[in-house]
Parts: sequence; structure tokens; C-alpha cells
Amino acid sequence: MLEPTRELWEQQNRLVGDRTGLFDAISDAVHVSTALYPGSYVDITPSFTWPSVTYVDVDRRAERFFADEAGVGELLVEHGVDPDLHAVRFIQADYTDDLDIRDGSFDLLVSLYAGFISEHCTRHLRHGGFLLVNPSHGDAAAASLNAQYRLHGVVVSRAGRYSVRTDALDTYLVSKRDVELTLELLHKTGRGVAYTKSPFAYLFERVA
Ligand SMILES: C[S@@+](CC[C@H](N)C(=O)[O-])C[C@H]1O[C@@H](n2cnc3c(N)ncnc32)[C@H](O)[C@@H]1O
Repeated sequence: MLEPTRELWEQQNRLVGDRTGLFDAISDAVHVSTALYPGSYVDITPSFTWPSVTYVDVDRRAERFFADEAGVGELLVEHGVDPDLHAVRFIQADYTDDLDIRDGSFDLLVSLYAGFISEHCTRHLRHGGFLLVNPSHGDAAAASLNAQYRLHGVVVSRAGRYSVRTDALDTYLVSKRDVELTLELLHKTGRGVAYTKSPFAYLFERVA
């Protein structure tokens, strides 16, 4: 493995912690084989769970990381995954541009701390597929306004353990303040909405 690959990976883990449990919890909750992760940076964790993951990022460091195929393979092996069985694809691109990806070809779209991914990339998700989105950049709120999505579950984290809950969903995405939520407002603030409950993330199903 190239030195920068290891450094970038260790830095990533220091920053966000080990997310293996997050993706394993999603895998326990819904069926996924193919995932699309725009704004991934070097978070290769989904590939420890799923056999086909496509990563998209504009950052050149991410491009260099994924270009080290032997290094990426080593990381998979370190996590008990056979690199010959898990396809890792990286596209160096702006996800708001046209990506060289077939519409409706993914089971899961991942949106973590990287802007309004649901607005630009939902077309790549199959009907009946899922959007995993955290609330930090306003994308969860954007998805809640999008008629193509229905809330399927919430991802909660307790003592470092992630799980997906599907009960009492009507008690989530309830704004603390009495404001009319619009896409324009979300774009203007670029931040999430203060809700009465704060799960780590939301799992929406694409229904249209
Ligand atoms: C804060 S990092 C989050 C990385 C990763 N999702 C995580 O949770 O650790 C945001 C990443 O999104 C990427 N990004 C933001 N806007 C993007 C865009 N329009 N197209 C592609 N990548 C983008 C940035 O380059 C950066 O690597």
C-alpha cells in the first residue's frame, strides 16, 4: 500500500470513527448489492459490507487513494473481504454534473456530510432502492420534501452501536421551530433542520 493511502485512511477513521457497524446495520435492515456514494472522499467502509460500490468525489486526494488499487485491496483484506469479490469503482467528478452511470442501477444511495446529493443523484437509484442520509447538510430535510421518497426507518447510534428502527416514524422529522420548510430555505442555509428527535441518519425508500 502506498504511504498516502494508509495516511488518508487513518485520518478518515480518526475523524469519523469506524463506520463498519453503520453499513452492517443497513445491510441487516434492507437488501443492498450495489451502492452509490457521492462525496465519499476516502470512506471506503461500504465496500467492507457490499459487493459493488461506486464512489464519486471531486477531490484529487480521493482520486489518488482509489487509484492505489493494491492499497484499497489490502484494506478490504484487513476487513475480511476478498477484493476479487467486491468491485470498487471510483469516478472523479462533481456529482451535480452528468455522471457516466445508468439511471436506476443502484440499490442504495449514500449521502453523508456532502451536500444535496438526493437532489442530483436520485435518478441513479432504482425504484424500491434506499437513500441513507444524515441530517448535517440539509439533504435529509430535502429528501423529506421530495415526493419520490418515503421514510422507511431511522438509524440510531447507542454506545457506538448502530441500528435501524422502523417504529414510530411519525415522531421523526418534526421541526422544533414553526417555519415553512422549503428547498430554497435549505439551499440558503446549507444546514440541517433542528428536529425534536436527532437520529444519526435516515433511511428513505424511493417510491416514485
Ligand atoms: C465532509 S466530506 C465527507 C466525506 C464522507 N462522505 C464522510 O462522511 O466521511 C465531503 C466530501 O464531499 C465532496 N464533495 C462535496 N461536493 C461535491 C460535489 N458536488 N461533487 C463531488 N464531490 C463533492 C468533497 O470533495 C469531500 O470529499
